[in-house]
Order: sequence, then C-alpha cells, then structure tokens
Amino acid sequence: MEKSKGKFVTFEGCDGCGKSTQLKLLSEYLTKNGVPHIFTREPGGGKISEAIREILLNGKNSEMTDECEALLYSASRMQHLADRVIPALSDGKLVICDRYVDSSLAYQAYARGLGEEFIENINQLALTKYAPDTTIFIDLTPSQAFARKQGADENDRLEQAGIAFHERVYDGYQRVAKKYPERVVVVNGNQTPTEIFEQVLRVLKERNCL
Ligand SMILES: Nc1ncnc2c1ncn2[C@@H]1O[C@H](COP(=O)(O)OP(=O)(O)O)[C@@H](O)[C@H]1O
Ligand SMILES: [Mg+2]
Repeated sequence: MEKSKGKFVTFEGCDGCGKSTQLKLLSEYLTKNGVPHIFTREPGGGKISEAIREILLNGKNSEMTDECEALLYSASRMQHLADRVIPALSDGKLVICDRYVDSSLAYQAYARGLGEEFIENINQLALTKYAPDTTIFIDLTPSQAFARKQGADENDRLEQAGIAFHERVYDGYQRVAKKYPERVVVVNGNQTPTEIFEQVLRVLKERNCL
C-alpha cells in the first residue's frame, strides 16, 4: 500500500458487536466533514468476488472443505482489493472496510481450527503489503452481542454455528489483537454507541487516518 496516499481502515469484531452502527456514525461524520472516502466490505460488488461469494454461499456446495472455503475467501479478498480498495487509495481516499483479513484469522484459523500458519500464508499480502493502516476491533463478547441482536438470523450459516463457535471467534480476535498490536486497536464495545464513536474518532485522528 502506498502510505503517502489514502489510508486503509478496517473494522472487526464478533457478529453483533456494533460494527455497522459505528460505520453509520463514521459515514455521517466523514460526509459532514467533506473527507473523501469509500465504505466497502468483501466481496464489494465486483463481478469476480460476487461469483466467488455465490460459490461460498450456495447450499449445493455442502461438500466444500474448510480449506477450500478459506482459499476462496482469500481469493475474493485479492479481487476486492484490486477492484475497490487499491483504486480508492490511489485516489487518496480513506477506505473503510467492514471486516477484512482478521475475520479469516478469527473464523477460519481459530474458530474452524485451520490454524494460524495456513490462514496467514494464504493471506500473506493482506497482512503485509495490503495490511490496513488501522484495524478497530470492537471488543464485545458473543453473549453480550447476541443479547443485543435478540437471536440468530436463520439464513446465516455462521450464526447457526452456535455460541461455542462464536466464543472461539472471540478468543481468535483476542489473539489477533495481541499478535498485531501495531495495527489493531481494541475498543471496548460495552459502551454506548456515542462513547464508542468518540473513541474511534480519537484513534483514527491519533493514527493520522483522519
Ligand atoms: N454500543 C451499543 N450499545 C447497545 N446496542 C448497540 C450498540 N451498538 C450496536 N447496538 C445494537 O446491537 C445490534 C447489532 O449491532 P450492529 O451494529 O448491527 O453489529 P455488527 O454490524 O457488528 O453485526 C443492533 O441492534 C444495534 O442497534
Ligand atoms: Mg454489520
């Protein structure tokens, strides 16, 4: 990533931790303050990433191995970088992404048990050349998050995996935060949206992302 151009910021955390809520507040703030930016999330609407997503979510592909799934996520990530992230950064825009490589570490490496080494290897570029400038990890336990969301969405395979799986995801995020302390900033998710947002803004300003 060319550091002299736009900044790349990702939001991470368990399902229901408050990412979308913070992204909405940030969106309002950036628009109001005339900060050139884009919001994105994988697969990001690109033709190839969407086609990969279709393979991943298609119920007919139930024999897909965990390794294949992880490789497809990383393939889609590279395409999304090329389609959306890199062009916006080259234009000097702030790029905000809802989930990125740390989700693969938390979900695939730790929760599914594929291991750090495999997931880091297949996501090497996303962890080095295309690493975010800042990752905000909204720290909220799955039980706290589930209580807010009032139950799972039946259509989401990951949400159906149950609380034990999500506890492993949460543990995974804690490990990610410890392993990449230069990049990952932990924000306590057990505060009001406004309190969290004040902290998010402070972090982004301190780290010259805003
Ligand atoms: N700080 C907060 N305190 C209380 N409830 C919150 C907070 N942030 C989000 N929520 C609520 O929790 C639920 C999940 O939030 P959401 O932003 O959709 O999480 P995510 O995008 O991480 O899955 C929503 O109903 C939202 O209104
Ligand atoms: Mg969300």
